[in-house]
Amino acid sequence: MTNTTRKILVTSALPYANGSIHLGHLVEYIQTDIWVRFQKMRGHQCYYVCADDAHGTPIMLRAQKEGKTPEQLIAHFQAEHYADFTDFFINFDNYHSTHSPENQYYANIIYQGLSDGGYITRSVIRQFYDPTKKMFLPDRFIHGECPHCGASDQYGDHCEKCSKTYSPTALKNPVSVISGTTPIEKDSEHLFVTLADFESMLSDWISSGTLQSEMHHKLKEWFAEGLQSWDISRDAPYFGFEIPNEPGKYFYVWLDAPVGYIASFKKLCDREHLDFDEFWAEESKTELYHFIGKDIIYFHALFWPAMLSAAKFRKPTAIFAHGFLTVDGQKMSKSRGTFINARTYLKHLKPEYLRYYFAAKLGNGIEDIDLNLADFLQRVNSDLVGKFVNIASRCAGFITKHFKGKLSSKLANPMLYQNFIREGTQIAIAYDERDYNKAMRDIMALADRANQYIDEHKPWLMVKQENSQSELQAVCSQGLNLFRVLMGYLSPILPLMTKSVEKFLVSPIVWQPEPLLSHTIKPFKPLMIRINQKQIDAMLEDSKETLETSSTAEPVSKLINYDDFAKVDLRIARIIKAEYVEGAKKLLRLSLDVGEKTPRTVFAGIKDAYTPKQLTGKLTVMVANLAPRKMPFGMSEGMVLAAGPGKKDLFILTPDEGAQPGMRVK
Ligand code: 2FM
Ligand code: ZN
Repeated sequence: MTNTTRKILVTSALPYANGSIHLGHLVEYIQTDIWVRFQKMRGHQCYYVCADDAHGTPIMLRAQKEGKTPEQLIAHFQAEHYADFTDFFINFDNYHSTHSPENQYYANIIYQGLSDGGYITRSVIRQFYDPTKKMFLPDRFIHGECPHCGASDQYGDHCEKCSKTYSPTALKNPVSVISGTTPIEKDSEHLFVTLADFESMLSDWISSGTLQSEMHHKLKEWFAEGLQSWDISRDAPYFGFEIPNEPGKYFYVWLDAPVGYIASFKKLCDREHLDFDEFWAEESKTELYHFIGKDIIYFHALFWPAMLSAAKFRKPTAIFAHGFLTVDGQKMSKSRGTFINARTYLKHLKPEYLRYYFAAKLGNGIEDIDLNLADFLQRVNSDLVGKFVNIASRCAGFITKHFKGKLSSKLANPMLYQNFIREGTQIAIAYDERDYNKAMRDIMALADRANQYIDEHKPWLMVKQENSQSELQAVCSQGLNLFRVLMGYLSPILPLMTKSVEKFLVSPIVWQPEPLLSHTIKPFKPLMIRINQKQIDAMLEDSKETLETSSTAEPVSKLINYDDFAKVDLRIARIIKAEYVEGAKKLLRLSLDVGEKTPRTVFAGIKDAYTPKQLTGKLTVMVANLAPRKMPFGMSEGMVLAAGPGKKDLFILTPDEGAQPGMRVK
């Protein structure tokens, strides 16, 4: 790493403006934010910009479904996203939208560059068209039978059953997911970027240290397969920017999405009077990094540099891809409650826990990272509370109580302090290389060393010996100074705690500080509380329920055949007891008589809609052959049927009296 001031522009991928931020997204924003905070702390000029990705068919359709304009929908999500990011301490220098004048301006400039360079061609393509909605259908809005194995309900262009890919027009009995009608095939002229024209430039660029080795390898495979031309136009109706001089044709969302990086930075330049060209001109000497998920490398390492070079903008210095998040070793799952939204997490747990845990797990490769919830609790509690904060809490009380808050005039062990300072050099290298897990290991090894120092000197015994008072002050001052060095190293991860420690030590937290001597500090207040298992359980519970009650599924589910239906054993049940469940926000525990020897216990998310009293004695309908599910509050042995959007508006099914518990519903 150089010692001179670097000028760095950093981005994270732009989230779509039609869904909430979840923990999977946060891996990237936390990873990027830590890196940016680290660079800023080291004195570099570093800017972090992002935006909502606001265009495309799914956003247009969702707005229609909600009876809103697309502008209203994207404004809602932009505000929601920004609030979520802020509350996780993701510190953007600017957060913009791709539906902005700056983005339209730069998208047009890039298109002009592509067009002037002769990189745009036209071809007529045949696609499915929904005659009732009067629109072409993107792959994901068509379903039908697989042309290879005949499996029903296959979406778009690949079969989940036999894994074959095909052209969507090859699907048998296709249906438009939007209207339920049979689509027709229709021709339309599209505009394409001839990516193959950039082959030699791209081949050099991807091999010049811009990519991680795994990504470079993947890109080379794509090169070997041949670079396909890229379809950048979509027909009206489409929510996006109309292509200049091409009435009724719009830029495909992925054309203007990365341009959002430029647009967001432009907005920042206008606000803070920065030199835009210094960062984006072709000959720029500044650094540009894009943090992304490994799934969108094609767009960032092929299309994007091609677009930039055609319009004579600089290309990225490097693309930093990361893996996906799993929770407890599995893909995030709505039914397990492990598909956790940022806001749901924040209702139960502190953002810095997750920032630390992700840092402790993140390396600079593209492997998936696992949020193991038991390990999360254990690691945060033991590393941050048990090791790190403990250093301060073991020393501060003595300084406050016996020395009026004043630290000693000399360190008890200057060599040890210098060791801690020296270690900062390799910790900085690990941060800079995005090897956060290494940085965390090194920092925690130092925290162990600091605790060991306190154990060796036993201030709790010194305080009892009258002639050891100045030694007591020096030992505790040593401990607090070591703590302060470590707070500096952890500061990119723990911005809130950094502020509290600055107040407590009445001094700024910096990287590799000079020791604080003969300095008065404030009384210590707990800096972090331990995670409790109940908080995690409640978060999982909440995640399950949000999804159960806020379904945004298509109006009518996929068709099933009679045999599928017959598998569900629906029974009349009498609610013999209904009770509140301690700690559960939405659940009631029901005891159901289904004509068996012992009643069934079922947890139902209907607490907002019914009191236990209203339910006791009622008949209802339950799914009796649902495999028992372990829930945080006990085992649920079935499910009662209820209808409605959720909360107070949920209605259980109640058969007429006369039906007997245990009767099969047919
Ligand atoms: O994959 C996604 O979620 C896209 N919205 C990312 C866009 S990143 C950039 F290119 F804009
Ligand atoms: Zn198939």
